[in-house]
Parts: sequence; structure tokens; C-alpha cells
Amino acid sequence: MSNTDQVYPPSAEFAAQANATAEMYQRAKDDPNEFWAEQARQLSWDTPFSTVLDWSDAPFAKWFADGKLNVAVNCVDRHVDAGKGDRVAIHWIGEPGDTRDITYSQLKDEVSKAANYFTAIGLQTGDRVAIYMPMVPEAIITMLACARLGLTHSVVFAGFSSAALRARVDDAAAKVVVTTDGQYRRGEPAPLKAAVDEALGTGDDAAPSIEKVIVVRRTNHDPDLPWVDGRDVWWEDTVEESSPVHEPEAFDAEHPLFLLYTSGTTGSPKGIVHSSGGYLTQANYTFHNVFDHKEGRDVFWCTADIGWVTGHTYIVYGPLSAGATEIVYEGTPNSPDEHRHFNIIEKYGVTTYYTAPTLIRTFMKWGREIPGAHDLTSLRLLGTVGEPINPEAWRWYYDVIGGNRCPIVDTWWQTETGGHMLAPLPGVTTCTPGSAMGPLPGISAKIVDDNGNELPTGEQGYLVLDQPWPGMLRGIWGDPQRFKDTYWSRFAEQGWYFAGDGARYDENGALWVLGRVDDVMNVSGHRISTAEVESALVAHPAVAEAAVIGAADETTGQGIVAFVILMEHATPGDELIAEMRNQVAVDISPIAKPREINIVPELPKTRSGKIMRRLLKDVAEGRELGDTSTLVDPSVFEAIRSQRG
Ligand code: WTA
Repeated sequence: MSNTDQVYPPSAEFAAQANATAEMYQRAKDDPNEFWAEQARQLSWDTPFSTVLDWSDAPFAKWFADGKLNVAVNCVDRHVDAGKGDRVAIHWIGEPGDTRDITYSQLKDEVSKAANYFTAIGLQTGDRVAIYMPMVPEAIITMLACARLGLTHSVVFAGFSSAALRARVDDAAAKVVVTTDGQYRRGEPAPLKAAVDEALGTGDDAAPSIEKVIVVRRTNHDPDLPWVDGRDVWWEDTVEESSPVHEPEAFDAEHPLFLLYTSGTTGSPKGIVHSSGGYLTQANYTFHNVFDHKEGRDVFWCTADIGWVTGHTYIVYGPLSAGATEIVYEGTPNSPDEHRHFNIIEKYGVTTYYTAPTLIRTFMKWGREIPGAHDLTSLRLLGTVGEPINPEAWRWYYDVIGGNRCPIVDTWWQTETGGHMLAPLPGVTTCTPGSAMGPLPGISAKIVDDNGNELPTGEQGYLVLDQPWPGMLRGIWGDPQRFKDTYWSRFAEQGWYFAGDGARYDENGALWVLGRVDDVMNVSGHRISTAEVESALVAHPAVAEAAVIGAADETTGQGIVAFVILMEHATPGDELIAEMRNQVAVDISPIAKPREINIVPELPKTRSGKIMRRLLKDVAEGRELGDTSTLVDPSVFEAIRSQRG
């Protein structure tokens, strides 16, 4: 067997102590409703549910519909009530090196204070609260305070631009934004509230739904921080001054816990809606089984940002509902130097480390002597998420970080799925590097062709989810039709959810996810739509037309490559390219800036006027061109190629 065929069974020792066992697959198949009910009963319900799944109004699912619970109580109070109040919930590490350890009792007090203040300013169950914050504990406290009151939170990644924030605030009609004065960026304080001010506008331009902006003091960098009287308040003067005693009420299982905006195939982001009971069930179930969580012993670290779904499910709701002790780190992996993550693992005895392939590839570039300088023997399980992991990076992770000892769980899921869907069970599955292996117990997936026929081993097709699951999205905020069109129209006849990814089975039955089949790019695990970047580019006055593709990139998975046609009056040059890149940063986020912008005389189009992105991808990736016979003018490529030099 060559090195590349090697498979990785769990050690007997790991298997013997694992939470999840092989019999779960069959049990879940035999009676999925009973299986999910059993998972849901791991939570504390104020009113127990009597029904599990109501799929009568498909694709609008209801799970545990007559049950009532409080999500924040499940994540905080119940651990305190069980005598675990002194357990550290969060070891927080700020980028400049300041730290805070927050126990479950302290977390309960902080969440209660925020809940009391939110109530005092008149927020009511069902109102939306936008959260635009770096990775500070108050971000998590705010999320939980919303959950406690039945307010629906909408976290907007603090790397998004003010324009992106405004669009999300308006779409959700959020009443409050919670933010910080500034955030640390590689050791330096950078403004953040300024972006909120710009987003919310003033006078005729003011965001109509906004009543308050609550500001956490983080960087304290600006003595003249602009302030809108009546609208802006400091967290320390308001939340901090509120009572730490708060009596929670219970909400319906289907009550919307949060919205999270994500990129689709069109220009406008979609507000993905998640429920309370079903979502939390899946978060808790997957956290326990996929991460093999051992309460009171493990130290868990998910390196995502709370601005993404991974941060929601595996920093906030999964770990905290399980009573875990976890790391929350504010900064970047190379601040102050490349040892940062390994220092943290060593210092806190991290047992379970969950990160993205793009970071693993970055670590590979930095060299194995960096992790090699640290004692990483506390680690017992590793995970990845966000994009396919190349087998080479998988093996490096296994060897260099995991010491050839730790199972790796490659977890495939989406903002829309709420929690893990495809992943190995770490004490059960023999892993093939690069494969997410298969659906978890209780989850069902298929690989099919255009007509919904299941494909044989080796053939690439569409990944579909053919059974509902508790953590599934409940809709797109304010747009039920778009929800149906986007996810449920492709295989409407069969009633399947179309995930937007391609996949195939290998000869050992392992499932390989091959990346998006739609116009969504994946840059460092961030979902960005080609249409969004194109519309940002054409907003620049010099741009007549733009086509954007994701080209393979060694470190980031994909890199954004743009092809633009200029207006006649425009002067090409470096300055213009810089302006165009900046336009994308301002409209969306610096993370969406194209790696490369090519100014071209023409774009390859079919006779019906559709841009052939597939061919642009061939060019950008330096491949021979695929079939050009449907092009109006195949010679455009000569011009495009000569332009790229
Ligand atoms: C991709 C992130 C391969 C996939 C949780 C999916 C993956 C999109 C994996 C969702 C994986 C995520 N292997 N591809 N383990 N995990 N993806 O919504 O294309 O930000 O559709 O959720 O990321 O991205 P999202």
C-alpha cells in the first residue's frame, strides 16, 4: 500500500473510551424520530415535546414543535444549577496578551445583566439585535442574552464593511447594534465603532430601525470617539450596572434563535434563519459525538470567528450547552508570532482543536519546527471545517500537530445545516485523508445526477440531503420563495435539499466533497459569491463589465480572480486596479478583494449572452481551454491571455 492509500483507524484505546459507537448508525436508521428525540432529551425542556418532526408543510420543518425551552438556560444556568458553577466556561485570550477566565457562574451573571438591560430599553421577544464585534467575551454574552430573552440575534462579521453591515441591519430591521470602540489587528488598535456610525448614517440617511448602539470598551484608543447622544451608550455604564439576577422564560422550540447572513449565487446575501430546539439539539449532539467531548476534562478550541456559523455552533451553542471548557482567542495566529496557537495549546492543555484547512496549510508553510518547539501532547482529537482538506495537509496535521495519535474529524456542513452533517465518528470510523467519510447517524445524504439518479462509485454528482434534520435552516429571513427556489427547487419532485456541492464516493465507500458547483467561491473557508464581487466591481465608475471566478490557490483553497472590461474613458494602470480592489473592500469586506484583476477587451460569452466562467477558470488556473465551441468569439482568449502576460 502506498503512502497515499493509507487509511487511519482509531486506536483501540481511543475507540474504547469514545462517546459515539457504531451501533448508532443502525439505531438512527431504524427509527430516526426516536433517535433525534433521544438527542433532544439531552437538553433541559421547560415543556417536554410530544411530537418530533412535523414535515407536513415541507420544506418548512418543525422539530419538537410543542416543546418549550430556553437556549441560554441550557447553555449556562443548568450547569450552575448542577453544581458546576465554578467550572471555567471560557478561557479568553486577548490579542495583546490580556486574559480572562469566565466560570459558568460568572457567565450566568453577565448574561443576566445584559438581559436585564435589554429588557430595560424595551426590547421584546422576536426583536432583532445586530452584533458587530471582535472576539471578545461580550460578543458571546450578548448572543446568550438575546437567546435568554427570545431576541433573534444577527452577528455580522467585524471584518465586513459598513455597507455590508447596513444592508444586514436594514434587512433584519434590527433595533440595536452591539459593537466595540475598536479591535486589535496584529497588535494595533483599529477603529470599529466608526464603521457602525458610517453604516447607520444620520438624518434622512439614518437606518430607520435602529434605536440604540451599545459600545463595549475594548481598545480605548480614541479619546474623541464620535458619539450620537441618545443613541449610543457604553456597555460599562448600562449592562455592567444592571442586576445579575434575571428570571428566564421558556420559548417555543421553533422560536427563531438567530439569523446569519451568507452569500448565495446572487448579489444579495440571505439571512439564514435558525430555530431554538432543533438547532440546539444538533449543536449539542454533534459536539458530544463528533468531538467526543468529555465534560470536566477536555479543553476545547474552535479557532473560528463568531461572525461565521462555525463560531455560532462550535464556540457558543455546542460547547456551552455541553458544559465544556473552551478557549476563545481574539487575534490572528501570527500575532505576536507564529507560535501563538501552539503556546495556547500548551499553556491551557487544549485537548480538542478545530480549525480550517487554510490555516493548516499556512502552518505547513511556516514549517514544522514551530509546532515542534511545543509540548502538544494534551491534544487528543483534531478537526477541520470549511473546505475540502487536501490529503497532504491532512497527513501533516495528523503527524505534526496530532503526533500520530489523534483522530481527525473532517466535518462537512453549511451555514444552512446548523451543525455537522458529514463527518467520521472519531472512535469508530477508519478515515481516508481528504474525505469527510459519510453522513452522521441520523443524517441522510445522496450523490445524484441531474435527474436525481444515484450515481455509482467514482462518479461525480450533486450532494443532496434527502431527509430533514433538526438543525436545518427554517427559511431565509423575509423571503420564503427564495428559500424554496434556492434549496428545494432543483430536486423538487423528490423533496431533497440541494447543498450546492459536488461529491463522489470512492471504492471504499468514503464520501469526497469536491467543492461548490454553483457560483459561490470558498476563500480561506469564507463563502463569497461571484455575483457580489462582480456587482462591487461594476459599481466603480471605470468598470463596464466584470466576471469573477474562484481559481485554485495553494493556501486559501480558492483565490478571487476578476476579469473586467473598462469604460472607454478609463485609464488602465496600477492605480485603477488598487481602486477597484478597494471598491470591493468597501462594498463587502477586505476578505473579498480579488487576488488578481485582469483588464480585458472582452469576456467569453455564449450566444445567449451568458459569461462562460468555466473557461475563465481554465485561463486563471493555467489550463488548456475546455470546449469553446459555444462561444460567440473564441479569439477573445488570445486577448485575455496576452493581457495576463
Ligand atoms: C464547504 C461552513 C469540504 C462546502 C461550516 C459548503 C466543506 C460550504 C467542508 C459551506 C468540508 C465546508 N469539506 N467542503 N469539511 N466544510 N465546506 O456556510 O462547499 O460557510 O457548501 O459553512 O463550505 O460554507 P459555510
